[in-house]
Amino acid sequence: MADLIDFTQETLSVRLKRNPFIAEVHYFEAVGSTNTIAYQLALAGAREGEVVVADAQTKGKGRLDRVWQSPPGINLYTSMILRPRIEPATAPQITLMAGVAVAELFSGCCTGSVSVKWPNDVLLKGRKACGILTEMKASAGRVDFIILGMGLNININPEDFDPTLRAAATSLKIETGKVYDRLEMISTLFDLIEKWYRVFLRTGFPGLRETWLGYADILGKRIKVVYKDEFQTGIVTGIDDDGTIRMQGEDGAGHRVIAGDVHLLGR
Ligand code: BTN
Repeated sequence: MADLIDFTQETLSVRLKRNPFIAEVHYFEAVGSTNTIAYQLALAGAREGEVVVADAQTKGKGRLDRVWQSPPGINLYTSMILRPRIEPATAPQITLMAGVAVAELFSGCCTGSVSVKWPNDVLLKGRKACGILTEMKASAGRVDFIILGMGLNININPEDFDPTLRAAATSLKIETGKVYDRLEMISTLFDLIEKWYRVFLRTGFPGLRETWLGYADILGKRIKVVYKDEFQTGIVTGIDDDGTIRMQGEDGAGHRVIAGDVHLLGR
């Protein structure tokens, strides 16, 4: 796979900075976590649109303290600094926005088999191919910055996954049999992030709700929401303006899902 590595500071800068939204590119062959580096850069004053890209991560972070497997040469690990003028409670909607952008990217390669799973996964044929981790710093009721971290499984083979992940994880290559140019993928990814971020800034989540729902296909479906040691099942009745899922529990009562893992159970 080594001959496919096309990430250098120069190739990434030249390619990504064709898009004026990308303010700066910080490339590393290996880091602990691109989110951590981006967070430190943002604390030091980095601008909106600065991105951190790594060929490999040694401590890739997932949601709920999980590890994001990040081997070199085959996938995308990147974090973007955003400075939207929004309230902290609105920040989780950035995760849903990024899910739509990644779903659109994947749909260009893998039509019909792409879905989003609330709140932060993008799946191919029901298996996870992308995870999104947003981290925020806020003060005085306003967001200072958001780190939008995205891990996309592009050219990884089944045997390269940790055995514990093999059944649930996949990549573009596994699903299509093709090898993808990572430079092309990351530049299209950020074009789509910019497009959907602008929609989000103009309209909030309502402007992307229909598109998100189109990929999620959960309206009217039975779901199980798992949070820590607890779970709840019910039928999805909608997704609110703030991106929380509305569901009717088995007891008939309405609930709002604000955290946890959502599993589709069917009708
Ligand atoms: C998840 O599904 O739990 C979220 C995974 C997020 C992984 C990406 S890889 C780039 C960025 N840096 C990290 O340490 N995590 C995110």
